[in-house]
Amino acid sequence: MRNLVIAIDGPSGAGKGTVARTLAERLGYRHVDTGAMYRAVAWKAAHDGVPLDDNEAVAGVATRAHLDQHGGRVTIDGHDVTRAIRTPEIDKAAAAVAKLPRVRTVLVDRQRALGAGGAVVMEGRDIGTVVFPDADVKIYLDASAEERARRRAADQAHTGGQQASVAHVQNDLVARDTTDSTRAVAPLALAPDAVYVDTTAMPIEAVVNRALMLVHEKLASERQG
Ligand code: DC
Repeated sequence: MRNLVIAIDGPSGAGKGTVARTLAERLGYRHVDTGAMYRAVAWKAAHDGVPLDDNEAVAGVATRAHLDQHGGRVTIDGHDVTRAIRTPEIDKAAAAVAKLPRVRTVLVDRQRALGAGGAVVMEGRDIGTVVFPDADVKIYLDASAEERARRRAADQAHTGGQQASVAHVQNDLVARDTTDSTRAVAPLALAPDAVYVDTTAMPIEAVVNRALMLVHEKLASERQG
C-alpha cells in the first residue's frame, strides 16, 4: 500500500482535529496539526517578548525553534505547551503570526519536510492549496458558524476549563475566520479538487467514515490504474 499524503483543511471547529487524529490512528499514519505549529510559535514569540507583528523577528523564532508533536503533546524548545496554546489569547496571537509571510514560508517548509515521505494526515488551512497541492486526498471540512462555536464552547481544553458563552465564542471565531480567509498570503480557501464535507449535522464518526471511504477509493483507483 502506497503511503499517501492526506490534506484536511477548513475553519476552526469544523472537526479537523478529531477527524485527522482518528484517520491517522486507523491508517497507522502520522498526524500533523499545522495550527499547533502556528500556535506554538505565537506562544514562544509572546514568551520571549517578540512583537507579534514583526515578520522577521517572529520568522526568526519559527526558524530557530525546536518543534515537536507526538502522542498528542506539543512542545517548543522543550516547553510542553499542549494546554497553554489552547487559550483565547493564543487564538488571537496565532491568527496574527499566521498572517506574516516569512513565518508562513518557514513553517510551510517544515510541514513539507514532515510530509515528504507520505503516510501523513496533515490538517490546517492551506494544506491542499499551498503545502501539498498534489496531496493524494484532499478534504475540506466545514460547518455553520453556530455549530462550530457550540463545539468550541463545549471543548474544555479550549476554554481553559471556564464556561464560555456560545455567542461570545462565535464572535471571536467569526472574527478569526475573517482574518484567516482575507489575509494576503495563503488564505483559507477550498482547493478546486478537494472534497467538501459539511459536518454541521454529522456525528464525528460519520465524518471519519466518509474520510476513510475517500482514502480507500483513492487506494483502489491506484491499484486499478
Ligand atoms: O487550526 P487552529 O485554530 O489551531 O490554527 C491556529 C491559527 O493558525 C488560525 O488562526 C489559523 C492559522 N493556520 C494557518 O494559517 N494555516 C494553517 N495551515 C494552520 C493554521
